[in-house]
Amino acid sequence: MAILTASISSGQVTLFVAFLWSVLAYLFSEYLHLTRPPRRDEDEEARTSEADKLLPNGDAKPAASGNGAAAGGGSPADDSSHSSGKAYGAHNSMLESMASSGLVSCLLLKRSALLQHRLVLRQVVEFGLLMLWYFLADRTTIVPEGEKSYSRDVFVFIFVVLTSVAVGSSIRTFKMPLLLNRPQTEEWKGWMQVLFLLYHYFEAKEVYNAIRIFIAAYVWMTGFGNFSYYYKTGDFCIGRFAQMLWRLNFLVFFTCVMLRNSYMLYYICPMHTIFTVFVYVALAIAPQLNTNHGWLFVKILLCFAFIFVTWDLKPVFYAIWSPLKFLLGYSDPRNPTDDVLHEWYFRSGLDRYIWVYGMLCALMHPTAAAILKFIDELPAIRRYTVRTIVLAACGVAGYVYYITIYCKPKYEYNQVHPYTSWIPITLWIIVRNMTPNLRIYSLRLYGWLGCITLETYISQFHIWMKTDVPDGQPKSLLVLIPGYPLLNFALVSGLYVLVSHRLFDLTNGLKNVAVPHSNNAMLLRNVILMAVSSVALWSCVAALYTTAGKLF
Ligand SMILES: *[C@@H]1O[C@H](CO)[C@@H](O)[C@H](O)[C@H]1NC(C)=O
Repeated sequence: MAILTASISSGQVTLFVAFLWSVLAYLFSEYLHLTRPPRRDEDEEARTSEADKLLPNGDAKPAASGNGAAAGGGSPADDSSHSSGKAYGAHNSMLESMASSGLVSCLLLKRSALLQHRLVLRQVVEFGLLMLWYFLADRTTIVPEGEKSYSRDVFVFIFVVLTSVAVGSSIRTFKMPLLLNRPQTEEWKGWMQVLFLLYHYFEAKEVYNAIRIFIAAYVWMTGFGNFSYYYKTGDFCIGRFAQMLWRLNFLVFFTCVMLRNSYMLYYICPMHTIFTVFVYVALAIAPQLNTNHGWLFVKILLCFAFIFVTWDLKPVFYAIWSPLKFLLGYSDPRNPTDDVLHEWYFRSGLDRYIWVYGMLCALMHPTAAAILKFIDELPAIRRYTVRTIVLAACGVAGYVYYITIYCKPKYEYNQVHPYTSWIPITLWIIVRNMTPNLRIYSLRLYGWLGCITLETYISQFHIWMKTDVPDGQPKSLLVLIPGYPLLNFALVSGLYVLVSHRLFDLTNGLKNVAVPHSNNAMLLRNVILMAVSSVALWSCVAALYTTAGKLF
């Protein structure tokens, strides 16, 4: 019986080589850390760090103090920016800066660099181990698999229990009754994500239409959150934008290489990436117009028009995206297709307008908040009357929406989804924010889950369910306790959420090291370094790989 379910690619070997090197470098750095010369106590730190600076050419000592700073500050990026920031003056070339970078020094196993970046190396190794778990769980027969089975009772039961726990133990308050405040949107993401995941796990086909609305709501939040940010801050800095792209694509990139999957298997990632870019571009072009509501409104209308031309006219869509087939193409191995762009057309098409609506809502946000405040300050009787009328209107609208649109069968529903998903989203926002108390309180448990949606989304395919083969859909479940589906669900879910949370922390930790927020020269340097070193390693491995393939 074969253990592997598919052959191994050169990309996978490259990752493995990089991982082995990191393990080596990390263990060496721990060894150096343990065996460094005996030093001062913690409380002497302040006094001796003064002396460290005076040490003329000390190798181990300054590095060790930098290391202490990394442990304390938790942001090793600062270290590298200090050490290379000085070197990266006007009279120093890019090449010198590269040679002195943490990546190169660690590659060369320089002792001082290893000591200084020990904690970063630890993060890299932990990330590698979690990727290895992805691989072992999904692509080998070591962990058995089970079949999905749906019971509405179990599905609803789990959600009710989780919500009860959240209500009973994790209500938190926000300082101001702000319309759509951050904890509230995180809570919103969290409970939608839970339902979205349970829908996959149990294959709860009957809630398909609701899940489509949830995905639309995420895309809505992308438009809303990003627009609000650029509108309020006018901060179009490349560093921050690059950090956002890293956050969205770091895990998915390594997952794709590790498991030989297409980017489009995780369609949420390209979709959010492209709409994030659109919002950025819409506001970063002619930013001086962003102070004027009228002009912003024109920009939003132009976005609608742009989407109409580039998505609704199918030939235009295919013409634009065909060159990117290698990135956005997808064909399900169990159900192959010739039209590899169809998946991208279908998925992105479902939510093509809702991010623009999110921008519109962000633009209207101050007005809506003022209306809410006006209602809150009415005398009691009138206040309750107005709220009752608004809620009743929402109820009627929701009911009409439910029977005329929501209840349509899957395929008919998908036809109208792009033009109607704004209705339930708007109704939910109104109801959820009707009174100041509703706005102040939110559920922290769901908020917590709402922060790691990207990681739970990607992990679900491989360490909660199983896809078995490259580009496969997660058709079966990961089984650690055979014969006890619910116990297994509990154990595997616990592990899965834990791993997802670690991946979230690691993505952010490594982001802070690799993507400087406000140093564009260093950002460029790091991008070049990462690209060159990974391509170089991959080329070597690929060359050896083909040679070996010919030999055997
Ligand atoms: C912009 O959208 C992306 C994708 O949803 C998200 O990760 C990011 O946090 C958003 N930025 C802001 C400022 O809300």
